[in-house]
Amino acid sequence: MKNLDVIVIGAGAAGLMCAIEAGNRGRSVMVIDHADQPAEKIRISGGGRCNFTNLHAKPENYISQNKRFCVSALKRYTQHDFIALVDRYNIDWHEKTLGQLFCDESAFQIIDMLLNECDDVDVDIKLSTSIKEIEAAPEGGYFVTSLSGARWHCQSLVVACGGLSIPKIGATGFGYQIARQFGLEIIPTRAALVPLTFDPDTRADLGQMAGISVDAVVAHQKTRFREGLLFTHRGLSGPSILQISSYWREAETIQINLNPEQDAFDLLKSAKEETPKQMVHNVLSRMLPNRLAQYITAKHGLERPIGETGDKALRKLASDVNQWQIAPQGSEGYRTAEVTLGGVDTRELSSQTMESRKAPGLYFIGEVVDVTGHLGGFNFQWAWSSGWCAGQVV
Ligand code: FDA
Repeated sequence: MKNLDVIVIGAGAAGLMCAIEAGNRGRSVMVIDHADQPAEKIRISGGGRCNFTNLHAKPENYISQNKRFCVSALKRYTQHDFIALVDRYNIDWHEKTLGQLFCDESAFQIIDMLLNECDDVDVDIKLSTSIKEIEAAPEGGYFVTSLSGARWHCQSLVVACGGLSIPKIGATGFGYQIARQFGLEIIPTRAALVPLTFDPDTRADLGQMAGISVDAVVAHQKTRFREGLLFTHRGLSGPSILQISSYWREAETIQINLNPEQDAFDLLKSAKEETPKQMVHNVLSRMLPNRLAQYITAKHGLERPIGETGDKALRKLASDVNQWQIAPQGSEGYRTAEVTLGGVDTRELSSQTMESRKAPGLYFIGEVVDVTGHLGGFNFQWAWSSGWCAGQVV
């Protein structure tokens, strides 16, 4: 049986960052992952260019039962610290929009950087290794046994298994299972940053809009996001919808402003006075893609000149542009979700070190914890920050 200072379960963003920091402190570190490649999520992130952080990352960009939990870690290892690391590797990057930083070339550059850092401090990365059992050692620390019978002892065990999204590339609920084994509470999980779907009737009706995208404001109660919205064959997607999906719950309605720049009623009213012979859908297509304008007009039965249309009908039409209310039926679930809401209850962990209060030497970092970022590089920043904090003490 081999003795190590630290075992990290999960060679993803958080696990690798933690391993690098612990290795830097001279600790012997082994990272175990059941996948045959490390950091698969980094590879597929940001459309292959990895949106590795956000210039404006702050606690308000995170959802958690305890909104204050992420404050300390985000302050101690900031987006600027990660940017400095990326710059040290001469990885070119650009701000795409809203502070979101992407590699100019490829997400592989971030993976190579992390692996190189691990290599520099002799982190041992064991891939294709599934864990059979974890036990607390009577003399302190933990025993980890692999399916193939290898057995290790470590003083610190770091759980960095991520969440449930995209099982196809290795996501499992193993991190939650370990938490439960040691008596830690879990905040119920759900798919987040995920496209929303319509019921079959709405799908049949609105499916014809698939492919149309608009700049929209999407709101759920007091939370609103202004970003792109995309009609799909199954429902709605695009950044604004992914963002609101983290707040929406089944049977609830979301409100969509399909043209935040213009007051649709004002525009329709002035067109009625200035160009009364113009067809309603032609007026509407000044503020919406033509196909969408035609659909909404037909839905209201207003296929006629605007001069022959009463203000009441125009007001109703306008409200479907600026205040469209829609109740999605569901979401596409973990199959396509970018992240998992919920996870290990932060009340169980130290916000300084990520160590479990109930099980000394057991740490939880990254997405497995009940801290979920908005879309835009915030989730990786949480992985870097929480991984870094644990790496200082394990
Ligand atoms: P992560 O999921 O990265 O790593 C967990 C590791 O644990 C994996 O390597 C997995 O194989 C391993 N593991 C799981 N179960 C195991 C088991 N039983 N035994 C052993 N190993 C196990 N975020 C962002 O900020 N910017 C972006 O551009 C994107 N883009 C993006 C695209 C897509 C398609 C997805 C699905 C997600 C994103 N994200 C993102 C979210 C981001 O990828 C995610 O929040 C982080 O990868 C979380 O990092 P972790 O290290 O916590 O988990």
